[in-house]
Amino acid sequence: MSAEVFSGIAGSYDRINRILSLGQDQNWRRRVVDELPSGRILDLGAGTGAANEIFGSRSLVGLDPAPEMLALNRADHRVVGFGEYLPFADATFDAVFSAYVVRNLASVAATVIEIARVLKPGGAAGIVDLARPQNKAAATIHRMGSAVTLHTVGFLVGAHSEYAYLHRSLDKLPRPEVLYADLPLTIERVWRMGPLGFVYGIILRKPQ
Ligand SMILES: C[S@@+](CC[C@H](N)C(=O)[O-])C[C@H]1O[C@@H](n2cnc3c(N)ncnc32)[C@H](O)[C@@H]1O
Repeated sequence: MSAEVFSGIAGSYDRINRILSLGQDQNWRRRVVDELPSGRILDLGAGTGAANEIFGSRSLVGLDPAPEMLALNRADHRVVGFGEYLPFADATFDAVFSAYVVRNLASVAATVIEIARVLKPGGAAGIVDLARPQNKAAATIHRMGSAVTLHTVGFLVGAHSEYAYLHRSLDKLPRPEVLYADLPLTIERVWRMGPLGFVYGIILRKPQ
């Protein structure tokens, strides 16, 4: 379902993402990438390659199940695939990065287990994604705001069902402290960003 959603909006995805985040989406990605080790990095759910410019001298592999998104990605190494079944050998990467993908996964647990497998011992995963604010009143305000904004944007760009899906997906998962607990990577740091703290960054570490 999710990969098909993104196939339909690949051409307008980056522009709309920038508008919806008030120009902050790249800043939020950068704050997570800055915490990751150098070396070989996997961008999981890389999409159009919006993060490519912030990986610096790292050796990059971009993976995504939507060929239409990957076709717009200029990374040297691009792989069509799913986070739940990573087509890489054990201990291939020093770091894994994933931005705005987790809400779209069929299984977060299966993907984190796969990330742990392909990371080298001591390697780290950095994830940035959207969630409802922690405070209940702020979450209610955010829910109303995202309903209006995302339904309106969906109508304007002719992709109503895709953006309605994005609105629904914000309520799908628990907060990151719960979502990534009891999995093979250790939660090293979680922090909130953006208006009402509706964006989170998290660093997960593979033990040595
Ligand atoms: C909101 S876009 C984010 C793209 C990019 N990471 C960015 O920061 O702009 C979500 C991406 O996740 C991809 N995706 C959906 N299901 C996935 C899965 N099971 N495994 C990996 N990527 C997936 C979609 O195809 C889409 O490109």
